[in-house]
This record gives sequence, C-alpha cells and structure tokens, in this order.
Amino acid sequence: GASIRARIEEKRAASVAGGGEKRVAAQHAKGKLTARERIELLVDEGTFREYDAFVEHQCSDFGMGANRITGDGVVTGVGKVNGRTTYVFSQDFTAFGGSLSRTFAQKVCKVMDRAMREGAPVVGLNDSGGARIQEGVDSLAGYAEIFQRNVLASGVVPQISLIMGPCAGGAVYSPALTDFTFMVRGTSYLFVTGPDVVKAVTNEAVTQEELGGAAPHTRKSGVAHGAFDNDVVALARTRELLSYLPQSNREPAAPRFTADAADRADAALDTLVPSDSRQAYDIKDVVRRVVDDGRMFEIMPDYARNIVVAFARMGGHSVGVVGNQPLVSSGVLDIDASVKAARFVRFCDAFNIPLVTFVDVPGFLPGVQQEHNGIIREGAKLLYAYAEATVPKIAVTTRKAYGGAQCVMSSKQLRGDVNFAWPTAELAVMGAKGAVEILWRNDPDGRARAEDEYNRLFANPLPAAQRGYLDDIIAPSTTRRRIIEELEALRGKKLSNPYKKHDNMPL
Ligand code: COA
Repeated sequence: GASIRARIEEKRAASVAGGGEKRVAAQHAKGKLTARERIELLVDEGTFREYDAFVEHQCSDFGMGANRITGDGVVTGVGKVNGRTTYVFSQDFTAFGGSLSRTFAQKVCKVMDRAMREGAPVVGLNDSGGARIQEGVDSLAGYAEIFQRNVLASGVVPQISLIMGPCAGGAVYSPALTDFTFMVRGTSYLFVTGPDVVKAVTNEAVTQEELGGAAPHTRKSGVAHGAFDNDVVALARTRELLSYLPQSNREPAAPRFTADAADRADAALDTLVPSDSRQAYDIKDVVRRVVDDGRMFEIMPDYARNIVVAFARMGGHSVGVVGNQPLVSSGVLDIDASVKAARFVRFCDAFNIPLVTFVDVPGFLPGVQQEHNGIIREGAKLLYAYAEATVPKIAVTTRKAYGGAQCVMSSKQLRGDVNFAWPTAELAVMGAKGAVEILWRNDPDGRARAEDEYNRLFANPLPAAQRGYLDDIIAPSTTRRRIIEELEALRGKKLSNPYKKHDNMPL
C-alpha cells in the first residue's frame, strides 16, 4: 500500500542524494561535478534513463551492514548523444569514494552487456578510490568482469573513458582497454601505484600530478588521448567525438550535412609547400583546408607531434586523417609516432571509417636509442595496421616519401585504393644528398653533378606515376574535390582478409 510506495520514493531520493550534501559540496569544492551532473551534460537534455538506482551492496564485514548508500557509488543507464543511443556509467565519488564493490561492478556490466547486444557506444566516467577495500576479492572479481567485457566489446562498439578524479591500481586497466581515454587537467590522475608506494619501492619522490596527471599521460606515456580544462569541456568534447563515430562495427558513422561544397577549390594549397625542401609547413593547415568546414578532432595532439591523427568529415562523411607533420622533427616516423598512428588506423578500420593519409615523411628516425627501444617492432605496427585495413584508403603525398616509411604510409602496395601526389612530391629511396654520398663515396668531385641528376630523375612524382604506384598527380587546390569523389566511389568497397582466429601483430 501507501507505505511501500513511500519507502520506494525514499530509496529513490536516497539514491539521488548519493553520499550526501557535505560530500557533494566537497566534490564541487574540488572543481568537480557530481556523477549525475556529468551525465546531464553528456547526454541530450532529458534523455537519460537510469537503471539500478536501488542497488545496494551485500557486504556486512567491517560494519558495512549498517553502511549502505543506495545506488552504491555508480550511476548507470542510457541516454541519447547527438540523438543516438549511448550507454553510460558514472562513478560517484561521494558514495564510498566511488569505490568498486561487487554490486557496483554488476551495474556497470549490465549496461556494457546492453550496449554490446544493441550496438551502441559506452562512455565511462571514472572518479573512484579503487577497489572497495571492505569487499576484498569480490571487488577484484568485479574489475575482472568489467575487463572481460571491455575486451569483448573492443572493435564491436566504441568505448570512451573520461578520467575525472582518481583512477588508480587495477582500476586503470578498464580505461586502458577502451578506445579513447581523456583526462581533466588538475583533478584527475591515473597510476598503477601512487606516490607513496613509488617512494617506498624505488625511492623516487614524485607528486600525484607529476606521476599520473594529465600532463605526463598526454605528453609522455601516451596513456591518455587528450586532456581538457574542466568537466564541462571534457563532456562537451566527448559529445563531439561521438558525432564522428558509428554506433557499432556493423554500421557506418552517421553523415552530417555541410554547406561546405564538395568541389570547393583552395588556391592557397598550390603554394603551401615551400619550394625549399628543407623548409617546414604545418600539415594541419593542409588538413583544415581540405576537410569540411576546416574542422577536425585531433587525437593525442600533445603526443608524438611529428604525426597528426584526427577525425574530420569530407562531403559530410567521417574520415580518419593521418598526416606526417613536417613542423615537428621533419615529420619523421619514430617509435611513438608509429604506435600512435597504428592505434588510430586500427580504430578507424574496426569502425568503418575511411582513412585519408597525407604523406610527407623523410623516413624512420635513426639512432641507438630508437633501435634499442625497438623501432623495428614498433614501426612494424603501423605498417601492419595499414596493410590489414580494409576500409577505403586514400593517400596524398605532398612532399617527401622516402624509404621504408614510404611503403608504410598507405602505399599502393598496402592495398591503397587511391594514391595521389602533388607536383611537389618526391617518392624515392632517400633524398639526393644521402644517395649521392653513398653512390659517389669515392668521387667527391662528381657529387654536385650527380645530385642534380638524382633530383631530376627521382625527386619528383613521375617515376612512381609512370609505374602506376600513383594513380594521378593532382593540383593541390583540387585535393578536396578529388578525395570526396573517390570516397563516394569507395562507399561500395568490399574487401576482407583471410580467415584467422586473430592476427599476431608485433606487440
Ligand atoms: N574503498 C572503500 N572506501 C574508499 C576507498 C576504497 N578503495 N577509497 C576511498 N574510500 C572512501 C573513504 O573511506 C572516504 O569515505 P568517507 O567519506 O565515509 O570518509 C571517501 O571514500 C572519500 O575518500 P577520501 O580518502 O576522504 O578522499 P580523498 O580525496 O582525500 O582521497 C583517494 C582519495 C582515492 C586518494 C583515497 O581515498 C585513497 O587513497 N583511497 C584508496 C585507494 C586504494 O588504495 N584503493 C585500493 C586499491 S585499487
């Protein structure tokens, strides 16, 4: 009767209250939003439907029987993002520090299972003190249940992690298994063990921020794909990222209308590449002039800046853009750049997003440190990623394409569908100077003439075009139109790889 209804409403209100006013105030004082406030900003207004609001933990050790918070530290459910179904879990730091219990894990797993069955993205908002200490192995089992689902969902539905507070210990491995991990500057950190344990084990003194803040993870470790100034920006940018992605691996990304004409020419591109090949230019400038409305969503903008990877649209359709960046170390491929781009290429391939590659690469980075850290194995990842990718692949060589790096960057032989070059392109084994120093080792006087000859013969796109390794040499100003025309033709592309249980990419 009336009393049960009152109790239900009481419980529902308790669930909404989470850890209570004081803890909510503490959360706000740190510059953080609450779990529910975050969800409201992530999803389209009024679309969120919560599940499991009544869940309470079943633990009675350490006095926990008398210490229950309805909802148990995580808010889960489904809403629309840009009009499309998106599953969400949002850890509530105000309730048991957002720590993970058995029931908490069950709530998370439930929405992950739904997302998998229905083909919809999962966004996880992380803000947690880790495994619920009072629950012991039950909470560890809970983590493992989530990890297993992260792995099975990988390549099936997009998974995005936002780190919006602490994320430490085993908890870090769920974000690490997802497609994209973003952090909030100043309030989030990620580490396997915190500063105290580091000090005890290795005697290194380091702050939380230095060890696992947004700066080290977006610049050095590459663990995070981007960082934002606060929760509001992070959630808005996540919505934007989702707009480029499909709901699952069985669908293309939703097109978006653009007023930017498909045949828009850009005369500035004709003079953008400096005639002196030692002078740099910004590949992002090229990308912005070619894609819809000059807009791109860069992934890992502060890591391995010698390569640029970004989502953009062309003719309204999502593309994954990869571009060597001449502004940073001449766009050389090193270990970090190879792994950064490889992961991005594989994501795009898994989710039916065509690849548009801008090539200006002097080669792989020489050096003892690179060799000893495995540039051979790491560089092979990018080669592998391009070679296995079956999505439409279009490449535009703007300038240098030298050596093995030329093969790697979406070459014709790696099943590149369309390979264009600008007139400024140079596809060769190496630059003229290096080549002549090797071939004319014992004849320094002949080098100047040989260099001229090498440049005339090799430092241009003709040899590759004459052999069909390039499909055409195009006027830079027409690049946008040429790519959009090919993307349209390639929408019918069907290509699959030989049957295998899974591949054995060089890890
Ligand atoms: N298990 C159970 N409760 C936890 C918890 C955990 N892992 N982590 C935090 N909490 C609880 C705290 O007891 C506290 O409860 P209270 O509000 O009832 O007092 C609340 O969450 C907030 O934690 P607090 O320590 O006051 O917050 P803080 O911002 O000062 O520190 C952490 C946050 C994450 C640094 C700190 O809570 C911590 O070190 N937690 C343990 C991390 C850990 O080792 N986890 C296990 C390994 S994965």
